[in-house]
Amino acid sequence: MAPASQTPADTPSASSASCTPGTSGTSGTSGTLDTSSVSSTPSASSASSTPSAPRASGASESSNELPEEIRYALDIGVDFARLPKHVAVIMDGNGRWAKAKGLPRTAGHKAGVDSLREIITTAVHMGINVLSCYAFSTENWTRPQEEVQMLMHLFAKTLIHELPLFEQENVRLRFLGDIEALPQKTYEVFQKGLKATEKNTGMVLCLAVNYGSRAEIARAAKLIARGVAEETYTLDEVDPDLVSNNLYTAGLPDPELLIRTSGELRLSNFLLFQLAYAEFYVTDTYWPDFSRHEFVDAIYSFQKRDRRFGGVES
Ligand code: FPP
Repeated sequence: MAPASQTPADTPSASSASCTPGTSGTSGTSGTLDTSSVSSTPSASSASSTPSAPRASGASESSNELPEEIRYALDIGVDFARLPKHVAVIMDGNGRWAKAKGLPRTAGHKAGVDSLREIITTAVHMGINVLSCYAFSTENWTRPQEEVQMLMHLFAKTLIHELPLFEQENVRLRFLGDIEALPQKTYEVFQKGLKATEKNTGMVLCLAVNYGSRAEIARAAKLIARGVAEETYTLDEVDPDLVSNNLYTAGLPDPELLIRTSGELRLSNFLLFQLAYAEFYVTDTYWPDFSRHEFVDAIYSFQKRDRRFGGVES
């Protein structure tokens, strides 16, 4: 399992994851600076080329043939012209879901994979450009070794199993976090996933694994300091955009909506910089019970918010 250098000692010292479609997100793993941005035109697999008319992959014009989540979204009045470009999700509550059913925690994680698949498909059908899911934090190494091992195995198995789905849905994979520090087999499978999806032009799926936002920001600071020392940039060029371009999410729009399941009201070191203006949707539902309908509810809730970005209404 994780050697000492990958344990929570890697976590930060004090304590311890462009409104544009996901057509060309970067496939960067870690250690590289990639500032390429996603394009501003809907992708082939986004739900709609005209925002008010969602497209179901493989569906005909008839609304009866639209996926269930699209019909539900239309029913409740989701405005497809105002979708969040990037949705971030803290998938929480697998363990409690299992406990409530008298099952081992591992059963909760396995059920969590089914939810993840359902939400990926729903996000693609809805026309979300970027979906970021928090799977394993830099702090999660402190869990019992058997659970960590099981999760690493589950991540690799899931990725292999879902590659055909990513191909079918034109999903491009990206990882947030230090994946080089993962067990060799998991790392190799992740690299395979990156390679297999690198040409896909649809939704960018970011999986945060061995991710901690404070560590990510410290890493960006180091990269920028090196850039200044090597005269790639001047000190005066260090600004929020440069910081953003040195995070794992470089080139992607910031999340506009954060969903957290299982009722906890905290960020848990996820995308601290990127979530500056995100709207929060917190539900008591445990992740394995989080359905496509609730994902649509979260988007509807987002569309009801009054987003002022620190300004005032004119
Ligand atoms: C949080 O529940 C969930 C996790 C630690 C793991 C989630 C991972 C997946 C659903 C699969 C991800 C797949 C890939 C390929 C990366 P918890 O154990 O913290 O629940 P609790 O708070 O109730 O104990």
